[in-house]
Amino acid sequence: SPPVPHPPMSISTTRPLSLPPLRNVLVVGGGGREQALAWAFRRCPEIEGIWISPGNAGTSDLDGCTPLAIAEADHDGMVAACRDHRIDLVVIGPEAPLAAGLADTLCGQGIAVFGPSAEGAQLEASKAWAKQLMQEAGIPTAGYWTVSNEQEGLALLQQLQRPLVVKADGLAAGKGVTVANSVEETATAIQEAFQGRFGQAGEQLVLEERLTGPEVSVFALCDGENMVLLPPAQDHKRLLEGDQGPNTGGMGAYAPAPLLDQAQLEQVRERILEPTLAALRKRGILYRGVIYAGLMLTPDGPQVIEFNCRFGDPECQTLMPLMGPELARVLQACALGRLADAPTLTLTELCSACVVAAAAGYPDSPRKGDPITVALDPESSSTDQLQLFHAGTRHSTEGVLETSGGRVLAMVAQAPDFDQAFAKAYEGLTQVRYDGMQFRKDIGHQVRAPKLY
Ligand code: AMP
Ligand code: GLY
Repeated sequence: SPPVPHPPMSISTTRPLSLPPLRNVLVVGGGGREQALAWAFRRCPEIEGIWISPGNAGTSDLDGCTPLAIAEADHDGMVAACRDHRIDLVVIGPEAPLAAGLADTLCGQGIAVFGPSAEGAQLEASKAWAKQLMQEAGIPTAGYWTVSNEQEGLALLQQLQRPLVVKADGLAAGKGVTVANSVEETATAIQEAFQGRFGQAGEQLVLEERLTGPEVSVFALCDGENMVLLPPAQDHKRLLEGDQGPNTGGMGAYAPAPLLDQAQLEQVRERILEPTLAALRKRGILYRGVIYAGLMLTPDGPQVIEFNCRFGDPECQTLMPLMGPELARVLQACALGRLADAPTLTLTELCSACVVAAAAGYPDSPRKGDPITVALDPESSSTDQLQLFHAGTRHSTEGVLETSGGRVLAMVAQAPDFDQAFAKAYEGLTQVRYDGMQFRKDIGHQVRAPKLY
């Protein structure tokens, strides 16, 4: 179906000035999220070349996309690659290089970057920092305490006598949170963290009141002052059907999630996202990238569970196929602080369904090196409203496609309703095989007929 205009943006609509050329784009990262971004940029008619570092086996087969092998920490190498390939825009996918200041280095060289500075990335890289910012800005979030040793944590718990959510302050690859069910579990989580379970990331803890309600992810594309919101998406964090089993990076998603209607999304903008961007500005941070708000829809309204400084994975794979060809221009405008000059972002009015397939042993000890067979016709797998985005894949020295990480790939499909979209995504997955393949058969159960694929 044809793209429809995105709902009005909260930016002035005086005659836009033209943005600089956008011929060459560099995507930093190698997950499914980065493949989906690169894939979406191919829809932008002005873009001539897309580079991705390091990419994955899927991006090496993506037409018009050239892999680079620059280490994430090699900032000088990234600058040199931008010069060599005349890069007009860098989009940084993961949080680690953002927290390590890659955007600062590139911006310092006059390169346009979508992704915040290291200071801005603290929104994700330090939960204590983010909580303080939220508290100062009056943003609805769970009550919390910051503790920096075991004694302090246990004394607080002794006083409160109720289970708390225990969070490592720093980046812990999505594993730093324990939602305790009892005071004893809370105490154990505090002790383990201070015994070094999360390394440096756990040297300080945030202890939080436990909230309840469904979770939804909202993404704001920001230029430092203004923002455009994407449709809400819902992730599925637990490994097993019925939301059982351990937490993972995300086993599937769907969008637009009807958990928030347009009016509620506007409230989230006004009460959460705009005040966050303003609070960042007040601290002297011009945040040019995406703010990912992980929200819990509590009986008292939406509250922030966490902020991330990047797109969600697999929410990004779910959302990108809904984006119009203007997306790359909108990200460029954000990078330049010129969202007012961006074209209106159009969205396809379809439902998008995403199912992640993980490796044997995921999340604790994913096995690598299982050969993957894909029977999908490569043409139909990236058009026709069905996409196969790789994540933990590589080509062996013999050129065989094989698993190389926890979340191996995502099958994404769009259709006029979620029943059809999920039927298509699960049908697509039947064409993919590898030993130990794990996927949830109930992704999207919230929005579709009860059927286990
Ligand atoms: P985070 O890494 O902060 O997203 O936390 C991981 C998961 O823990 C979230 O997706 C929630 O399901 C859960 N969680 C985090 N904070 C809270 C809270 N205050 N109350 C209840 N559940 C929470
Ligand atoms: N899908 C959850 C995340 O990206 O953190």
